[in-house]
Amino acid sequence: MDLAKFPERVTIYEVGPRDGLQNEARPIPTADKVAFIDALSATGLSHIEITSFVNPKWIPQLADAAQVATSITRRPGVHYSCLVPNKKGLESALAAGMRDVAVFLSASETHNKKNVNKTIGETLIAFEDVIAPAKAAGARVRAYVSTVFGCPYEGAVDPVKVVALVKELRARGVYQVSLGDTIGVGTPLQVQSVLGQVLAVAPIEEIAVHFHDTRGTALANVLVAVGLGISTVDSALGGLGGCPYAPGASGNLATEDVVYMLHGMGIETGVDLEALVACSSRVAALVGHELPSKYLKAALGTIARQSRRVTAG
Ligand code: HMG
Ligand code: MG
Repeated sequence: MDLAKFPERVTIYEVGPRDGLQNEARPIPTADKVAFIDALSATGLSHIEITSFVNPKWIPQLADAAQVATSITRRPGVHYSCLVPNKKGLESALAAGMRDVAVFLSASETHNKKNVNKTIGETLIAFEDVIAPAKAAGARVRAYVSTVFGCPYEGAVDPVKVVALVKELRARGVYQVSLGDTIGVGTPLQVQSVLGQVLAVAPIEEIAVHFHDTRGTALANVLVAVGLGISTVDSALGGLGGCPYAPGASGNLATEDVVYMLHGMGIETGVDLEALVACSSRVAALVGHELPSKYLKAALGTIARQSRRVTAG
């Protein structure tokens, strides 16, 4: 494997407030979400996905999308994005001041149908009411392709389908396509193979990776992706979240873990790890459970040991 193309800088695309909180059982008050996003804005992150303008019957956790979007304090230099599945979602997002939106679909039919109640073909048609109108309104449009490395219903996914969707989405005008390992089944050589095929049809800066750590392979997969020159990596604070229509999809790659690894390799992210840890501690209290990030656990253990020493001394 030739991993010689490490970028000097990687953009972390933080999805915790959206991809994380959409999967939490405990309702989080809107004011707490706003405070969480405002705290994330002060960590050096340049991209934060804050919510989704979807049917609240399907994702009740994000029913307060408009209130969140209109209540956060927008920090200059930070891009705040949201998911929009259709025209209605786009209109609500634009009305709430969003100028960074993301469409989403799956590489496997069954997951797509369960996630957005449409076939892949119907979803692409629905995007005609989203991508061009969003751009005409001055918004940037990103796209997610989910289940790229495996589907919870169909198993293996043919990379040919992924490549075809990347081509189709680029032709429709999205600025970047994020390839999602929605259920965390991908492994490093598979990532190398799929990315190799995708990068044959798309410029590298237009491709991002979105790994889940369900089976512990997310960081290894990131290593391969950045080794191939990918410079945008999605992750969620503390490892929050998953996908409500993907059984077993617990845990996005934790932002702390990937930032730690990249900094250790001399790759800049602009993100302050200590500030992330402070945010994660607050979020763990909000969601009411421990967060899976290994870096976070180690950091909190160190802080606890130090404070015991101070108390004892
Ligand atoms: P549908 O039921 O087929 O839509 O849902 P419809 O057009 O037939 O409308 C039915 C009702 O939904 C109507 O309301 C609409 O107004 C309403 P009613 O008349 O019954 O009261 N509706 C909406 N309400 C608010 N906002 C909207 C909207 N659109 C319709 N935008 C729809 C289709 C896509 C809306 C629905 O299936 C949905 O909301 N799904 C949620 C999908 C979702 O958010 N999934 C989680 C995303 S995570 C993911 O995809 C993976 C990713 O994270 C990457 C990875 O991890 O790999 C991106
Ligand atoms: Mg995810």
